[in-house]
Amino acid sequence: MPNPINTEHFWMPFTANRQYKAKPRLLAGASGMHYTTDDGRKILDGTAGLWCVNAGHCHPKITAAIQQQAGTMDFAPTFQMGHPKVFEAATALASIAPEGLNRVFFCNDGSEAVDTALKIALAYHRVRGDGLRTRLVGRERGYHGVGFGGIAVGGIAGNRKHFGPALPGVDHLRHPLDIGRNAFSKGLPEHGAELADELEQRIVTLHDPSTIAAVIVEPIQGSTGVILPPKGYLQKLRTICDKYGILLIFDEVITGFGRLGTSFAADFFGVVPDMITCAKGLTNAAVPMGAVLVRQDIHDTFMQAAPENAIEFFHGYTYSGHPLAAAACVAAMDVYKEEGLFDRAASMSPYFEQAAHSLKGLPYVKDVRNLGMVCGIELESVPGKPTARAFDVFLKCFWEKGVLIRTTNDIIALSPPLIIDKPQIDQLFGAIADVLKAEKPVPDVKTVAA
Ligand SMILES: Cc1ncc(COP(=O)(O)O)c(C=O)c1O
Repeated sequence: MPNPINTEHFWMPFTANRQYKAKPRLLAGASGMHYTTDDGRKILDGTAGLWCVNAGHCHPKITAAIQQQAGTMDFAPTFQMGHPKVFEAATALASIAPEGLNRVFFCNDGSEAVDTALKIALAYHRVRGDGLRTRLVGRERGYHGVGFGGIAVGGIAGNRKHFGPALPGVDHLRHPLDIGRNAFSKGLPEHGAELADELEQRIVTLHDPSTIAAVIVEPIQGSTGVILPPKGYLQKLRTICDKYGILLIFDEVITGFGRLGTSFAADFFGVVPDMITCAKGLTNAAVPMGAVLVRQDIHDTFMQAAPENAIEFFHGYTYSGHPLAAAACVAAMDVYKEEGLFDRAASMSPYFEQAAHSLKGLPYVKDVRNLGMVCGIELESVPGKPTARAFDVFLKCFWEKGVLIRTTNDIIALSPPLIIDKPQIDQLFGAIADVLKAEKPVPDVKTVAA
């Protein structure tokens, strides 16, 4: 038996602390597609950690790069100083970014990347003399991390309601999830592109375009349960933003680095935003790091506007481009390229899609939606107990099937490492299918009352 661990002091993030601590789930090791629990059980990772370990766990090349950097130079500031690895990392990122997005601002995670991008958008308009553009537009059910900027443009009530007004002057588009019209779509849903027109017909009309700085969306809304953009939706957003001089930011914290079989979702959709926020797969999650990829002329506007020898953008973090993170980033980019992992994801996704849709018809499955190596399985909620059904499936997968899945509300979200093979895909969906088949029907509330 492993030593009992004192779980008292760690206030766990986004966790039902009391429930968790009553029966902790402890991961103690990881390699490739698997975790090992503290009691030695092997767990297939169906979520790449948290959408982040795209090349699989403890990749030897990434581990070695971090170890080597830790022994060479632990830390160097990037304020008025620099170090080789951070420039190398920025160059590697620029080389896989969509055309034109070749300037890179580093931070430490997705939340900081979002706040950084929003600040670049506001400052950009101001330095080019259009400082009335201060309004930001996000989307309902959007997740952009937990900074005040991110929760303001985000659209999750639970993440917002305790924290006051966050940023003023924020508006939201409706989200495009429409199970009524699009249930069990394979790939992009047919219906709903017209929801992008809201940007023009409702928000631009209401506020006037001269007040709007930027629109931020996740190409796929991951955290709230895999909400896919209907065919043509992102293209429409791009067109409307262009028409009114509004910057378009894609939050690619989960879609970056091969999740859809391309470097970024922007490449998959053929829509180039003005900025991309990324994190997670940026270092294969081995060291925290985030980044904003910025259109060169936006960057150049700052360079030209500031007096010579002046700091052009008053923003940054002590750990912007930390040497260990930069080393992990360079190594991760090499691994993705050398192992052809983005192409692998593209070629594996039809099999993944087929396996996902094999769940159609099982008890409580009300929708399956997928794109690339992402899929969402929406379950009917237990009456009066939202989240209970999916969480129960999560627990059974973990304790009984040796499979890690992720749930949000009553939606299972799967996003395995891109190295997953066909038998492992079968194991992942087979485990969920077995658990669903064994789920006890929940008595109708009215029947119980009668
Ligand atoms: C789209 C998106 N943006 C931002 C974030 C926040 O990233 P982090 O948790 O690294 O701050 C996430 C996290 O899942 C995300 O999915």
